[in-house]
Order: sequence, then C-alpha cells, then structure tokens
Amino acid sequence: MSPSTRRLGILTGGGDCPGLNAVIRAVAKTAILQYGIEVVGIEDGFQGLIEHRVRPLGLKDVSGILTRGGTILGSNNKCNPARYCTGRKPDGTPIWEDVTEKCLTTIARERLDGLIVIGGDGTMACAAPIAAAGINVIGVPKTIDNDLVGTEITFGFLTAVATATEALDRLHSTADSHHRVMVCEVMGRNAGWIALTAGVASGSDVILLPEIPFDLRRIADDIERRMRGPGFAIVVVAEGARPANGNQVVGRYDPTSPDPIRFGGIGNLVATEISDLTGIETRTTVLGHTQRGGAPIAADRILATNFGFHAMALLASGKRNRMVVRENNLFSDIDLFETVGKQRLVPVDHPLIAAARAIGTSFGDGAGSIVPKAIPTAVV
Ligand code: F6P
Repeated sequence: MSPSTRRLGILTGGGDCPGLNAVIRAVAKTAILQYGIEVVGIEDGFQGLIEHRVRPLGLKDVSGILTRGGTILGSNNKCNPARYCTGRKPDGTPIWEDVTEKCLTTIARERLDGLIVIGGDGTMACAAPIAAAGINVIGVPKTIDNDLVGTEITFGFLTAVATATEALDRLHSTADSHHRVMVCEVMGRNAGWIALTAGVASGSDVILLPEIPFDLRRIADDIERRMRGPGFAIVVVAEGARPANGNQVVGRYDPTSPDPIRFGGIGNLVATEISDLTGIETRTTVLGHTQRGGAPIAADRILATNFGFHAMALLASGKRNRMVVRENNLFSDIDLFETVGKQRLVPVDHPLIAAARAIGTSFGDGAGSIVPKAIPTAVV
C-alpha cells in the first residue's frame, strides 16, 4: 500500500443513476477495513468541492445503502470548476470563471491525499484539471448511457435497461388491445445503447438510434407491414435519434450550464409522422428520469461493488490518475485523461444490431440483415 494515502475524498458527479451508493459503500468499506484510510464525502459533486461542503464517511454512514437509488452525497450536472457560471452580465449572458483553485483549497484544508470521482465523461473532464494540478484522481465510470470510452460497461446502465424493458413490455399489451402504434422515447443523447438493448430485450419492432439516422417513410412502410400481421407495433426511440434529413430535437436549453443542451421531443415527432403517414392511431410515452431512479438491479450492485473495490485498491497502490474499467469481463484501469472529450457510440455493425435485423427488427434505415463484425463489446 502507498503510505502516502491516509485520507481520501469521494464525490458523485453528473446525472445520478442506480448503483452510486453501492460504489460509495464499497470504496468506504474497503478504505476503512482494508487500508485504515479515512474517507470524506463531498456533497453535490464539484459544487461541494468549490464551496467546501464535506462530511466524514464512516462505516455507519455507508451501512444499508447498497440497495438505495440516487446518491447519499448528492450530485450536480451543471457544475464544471474550470468553466463555472458566477453570475450574469447586464445583457443576461452568463459570466464564466475558472474556480479550480477553490477545489484545490478544499482538498488542502481537508488534507486529502486523493480523490475518487464517480461519474461520466463530463465528470472525468471536470476532474482532469484537478489531476493536472497534482492531486491523485481515480475515476469510476457511471452513466445509464453506457457511453464512456475504455470500458465495456458502466454501472447504472443495466438497471436503466431493465426499467425501459419493463415499460416496453407493458406498452406491448395495451398496444395489442387497441391495435395501436406505441412510440417510447428513452434516454441516450448521442449513444443509443439503452434503446438498442431494451428494444431487443422487449422485442420492439422499430429501434431508432442516434447512430443510425432514420427515414420516416421507411418506418411507416415497416409499421404498415406489421399492422397486417400482429396488428400493433412498438417503436423505441433514443432521445438523440434524428431523421436523415433533419436534426436532433432539443427539449431544453440552459445557457448557465457548461453542458446546456438536453434533447427531448423526438418521440412525439415520430409518433405524429407515423400517424399522418399511415392513419394508424399512435401514442407516445417518454420514460425520462424513471430510467435513472430507483434501486439498482443485482447485476449493477455487483458491478458497482467491484468498481468501488478496484478504485480503492488503485488509490492505495499509489497508481495515479486512472479510471477503473471492465474489458472482456476483467477489471483493469486506463489513463483518466484518455477518457476526456470522448464518447463510446454504438457501432452500426454491432452484433446485436445484426441479430436484431436478422429477426426482422427495423432501424428505420431500410437496411436488411447484415453480417456482424466481431466486436469484443459487451452490452450485458
Ligand atoms: O447523461 C445521462 C442522462 O440521463 C442522459 O441520458 C440525459 O440526456 C441527461 O442525462 C438528462 O439530464 P438532466 O438530468 O439534466 O435532465
């Protein structure tokens, strides 16, 4: 063990997801029980680091949280210390400042020898300047979107898929009763992992991903064919999907956020077009944040525990500025800086897409069955 690590800070950044508490618990228990390291919880992500809002995390604090959704520490997806909104100019435009120094002051005052940051690509990007300033930062890959580079899976994703699959199953029976088309919008900004995986798991008829621009006329044709058979159809659409001749649909824009755009509304657009083109009664369901809430499923509890344990072992071993990853079902680590500014999208020749096409699933692009590429990329 590295004798230099006596006290560590832990924070959860970005959008929450199931399994965050399981990681916090695994880190704190491993730190205290195996290495005798003190743990300090930082509240509301980097906001707490800027404002020096921290609290000690003992064994009692992390007991009973394995199954709890959300994060006991709080999170924040509007706060990047290197580009922090400190107010508005008279014309309403935001004032941006680099407040990384405030984070370093909190770290010094708390005598932290290292930081464990649990988050997605945004959180790793926020942590990079702190690591560059000499603080040892260990990342744990979190996001329901499953789009972090270097790891075949992030925790939270499988629970989101389970939630979306259950919702799609429920839409099946009501679609059947009313002979309708049901369009379900799921999360996934630039990567369609949730739509693809929940779509296949639920036997959806049409799956629309950000990675495969779609053609509404082709979708209408596929749905009309399906109506002549079972008499109903299920369409799952990722929030970041777009027509080949159009743009992603922006649902909300917050100029004071360093990450200002949120997609939303493509489900309604697709449903309206299907109904106009086919004359078939169509309804939309937007799953939204239900996919991020609630208890983690067993697989995520296990993954989160493994990630937390490995992150703590990395820190204790003295390795610097790494992100723990899983590759080919084995845990290892990569350079934290390598993850910044990158996203792991769904390859259009992914084996699961090939399998779905082979069984007649439409991706709205008119392409038929393809030969899958051998990609060592797990989705479960
Ligand atoms: O990145 C995770 C995610 O849930 C995306 O799928 C989604 O677009 C976004 O966060 C929603 O963010 P917010 O909680 O700010 O609405």
